[in-house]
Amino acid sequence: MEIVFKLNELDNIIKKEIIPRLKKYKIFLFTGPLGAGKTTFIKNVLKNCGVTDLITSPTFNYVNSYQGKDKKIFNHFDLYRIEDLESFFSLGFDEYFYKKDNFCFVEWPKIIENFLIKSDMKDFICRIELRFCEADIEKRILIIN
Ligand SMILES: Nc1ncnc2c1ncn2[C@@H]1O[C@H](COP(=O)(O)OP(=O)(O)OP(=O)(O)O)[C@@H](O)[C@H]1O
Ligand SMILES: [Mg+2]
Repeated sequence: MEIVFKLNELDNIIKKEIIPRLKKYKIFLFTGPLGAGKTTFIKNVLKNCGVTDLITSPTFNYVNSYQGKDKKIFNHFDLYRIEDLESFFSLGFDEYFYKKDNFCFVEWPKIIENFLIKSDMKDFICRIELRFCEADIEKRILIIN
């Protein structure tokens, strides 16, 4: 599914396309170039899930965790700067993906793709791609798989 949208349409798209998917999926992988809007998108999802804390990009610490509605925990990962899969495991990050009532939103998920595909969590993965819209710099393209 492909949706072209502007920033002011993001909230409605998330309510319609992402919130219902939280029933089925636990792990949301975000791909797309630098500045495509991955962090912006995830921040809005978390707000819609009742996170009231200030949401900041986990650029240097790799993950920020937030409490949302109904005791749900939302883990926001940015793996752009992580060295390799071994670092991911040694930091204990794989545990976040199995914990009850936890959801994971991952920017730059490439290094964990193989691990996830082979894990028990493989059926709970939703892939989201954000692209720039060549015709309009104020628009983005959302692709949900
Ligand atoms: N849907 C959108 N439409 C227009 N502009 C957007 C949209 N989403 C985000 N932006 C703008 O794009 C800029 C970069 O967004 P953001 O930081 O979310 O990107 P990112 O994909 O997380 O980047 P990075 O790969 O560096 O983490 C911000 O200034 C933001 O306001
Ligand atoms: Mg980002």
